[in-house]
Amino acid sequence: MISEINELELGQKTTMSEPSGATKTVAEQAVAAEWDNNADLWARSLSHQLDVINERFGIPQFLDFLGNVEGLDVLDAGCGEGRSARHLAARGARVTGVDISCRMIDHARRQEEAAPRQIDFQVASCSDLSRFAPHRFGMVVSVMALMDTPDLAGALREFARLIKPGGEIAIMVRHPCFFTRGYTLLHDKNRRSAGLAVADYFQRESYLELWRFPNRGQTMDAPFTVNRYPHTLADYINGLLVYGFRLTGVMEPQPAAALCTEFPNLGFWRRHAALYLFLRGRKETTALMQTTG
Ligand SMILES: C[S@@+](CC[C@H](N)C(=O)[O-])C[C@H]1O[C@@H](n2cnc3c(N)ncnc32)[C@H](O)[C@@H]1O
Repeated sequence: MISEINELELGQKTTMSEPSGATKTVAEQAVAAEWDNNADLWARSLSHQLDVINERFGIPQFLDFLGNVEGLDVLDAGCGEGRSARHLAARGARVTGVDISCRMIDHARRQEEAAPRQIDFQVASCSDLSRFAPHRFGMVVSVMALMDTPDLAGALREFARLIKPGGEIAIMVRHPCFFTRGYTLLHDKNRRSAGLAVADYFQRESYLELWRFPNRGQTMDAPFTVNRYPHTLADYINGLLVYGFRLTGVMEPQPAAALCTEFPNLGFWRRHAALYLFLRGRKETTALMQTTG
């Protein structure tokens, strides 16, 4: 079964219903436990440059989408082992990174010690950032984390509280309209990838996904197990609007033709479907009273 995991970063799903009556806390504990389990393999894979698709395609496009972050106080929400925070620091931001997984933050702090970039890494859930004062940040950024979190609304509410009036939010997630619980890869008669069929878009239960990097060596062959929370496109957009953001940018990036020549698997994401959704919003000053009380 695992050998069927495809190489297009689509993953293979096994369903797992949340226990009935599960509270957000229980769900978040499960997310933290999964990412604690994944942390060593994840960090090793990134240090071996296995995450080609994000490093060469998704993250560079997202950094362009963000624009200038120099001199800004930026919160990296769901920072993992710190890769996204380091990219922001390299662009001149003063970065605080939070992640729900202690083990991920251990890795992030270790890398910070080895090559300091003045990044402050802390263990915290995006939906409880009460340790930070209101308006603490000029920008909140989240890279490939919010589709893994059970309480999207809670996270967006916290981000709105933390961003200064006029400040910005920018999120990068797997595209919710294509990475659904029931998607299937389509093949032509020559067994080449020919598209993607979507199913279960409105299925709200969380599910476990087995997932791994293409081109890994044998020592990194174990798959990750990730809890996915199927937020819809409307959840993301309405969440931003409800918490007082004005939408200032939407992007469904396509890989450049030259990159697809270098990495032929990426051609799928140029032609058939969007791998990522990028959203950007500005905190309206009129939202201040609603979000900070
Ligand atoms: C795929 S990793 C991405 C990490 C990093 N942003 C990067 O680009 O390398 C997703 C991370 O989101 C974190 N995460 C998921 N839900 C979270 C939550 N509610 N609060 C904080 N972190 C969360 C996980 O622990 C995991 O480290």
